[in-house]
Amino acid sequence: MKTTLITGGNKGIGLELTKAFLARDYKVIVIARDFKDFAYADRVECIAYDLTNVEGIPALVESLGKIDILINNAGVMYSLSYDSYPQEKVNIMLKLNLEAPIKLIEACVKAGATRIVNNASIAGQIGHPDVWYGVSKAGLINATKSFAKIFEGSVVINAVAASPVETDMLETIPLARRETFLKTVVTGRFATPDEVAKAMLWLATESPEYINGTTIDVNNGSYMR
Ligand SMILES: NC(=O)c1ccc[n+]([C@@H]2O[C@H](COP(=O)([O-])OP(=O)(O)OC[C@H]3O[C@@H](n4cnc5c(N)ncnc54)[C@H](OP(=O)(O)O)[C@@H]3O)[C@@H](O)[C@H]2O)c1
Repeated sequence: MKTTLITGGNKGIGLELTKAFLARDYKVIVIARDFKDFAYADRVECIAYDLTNVEGIPALVESLGKIDILINNAGVMYSLSYDSYPQEKVNIMLKLNLEAPIKLIEACVKAGATRIVNNASIAGQIGHPDVWYGVSKAGLINATKSFAKIFEGSVVINAVAASPVETDMLETIPLARRETFLKTVVTGRFATPDEVAKAMLWLATESPEYINGTTIDVNNGSYMR
């Protein structure tokens, strides 16, 4: 039985991935902070851990045994303006969205992982009003390319870059910006979490190994308008 480690696999897009991997008979390990409303706790190894504690990640992963697939999904967005961004939130943003995924890549490859999928964002491609969020996701896209080169094909590592998705995170985007965004997509709706999860699942399991170091757009043609 293959093992998938999913960060933030208890909510939103990550929850859809947890369900999809369980349906395919994978052992699933989820790292997140709060499992109280998590309906799959009896079928999943739940690790309550705050991933901003980056220093503890190597020992944590080492304690989990063999890992085949890493899904770097946990993330945060604050929708704060650059000039009213507390340093404490900058630190959380960069640790959770960028440092932790990189540490997890390092640790999970040591633990046997040969497929990695990073949940980036369109914010990392076109910029974002939450500057630190955009920067963190641009960094993750860059790390995806860098590690594909570093691993020389022994690990297939890719990312997805979604436009806004109907999860709790969407609620943090001001209403006016959400409405403006809807005018930029072909179908005039936000993505659903399972649409992003399906793309990530494919990259984690079935995509050809020649697709490596890339970031797949899940943005409903947002660039075209
Ligand atoms: N929703 C969108 O519009 C959108 C668009 C593009 C990309 N994305 C990306 O997709 C990923 C998943 O987001 P989502 O939309 O599914 O949002 P979500 O429902 O808010 O999920 C965020 C996940 O991250 C976990 N998490 C947050 N802080 C954590 C911490 N300090 N330590 C460990 N886990 C933590 C949360 O679990 P706990 O709260 O239990 O810790 C939760 O499972 C994120 O990386 C996000 O940037 C989202």
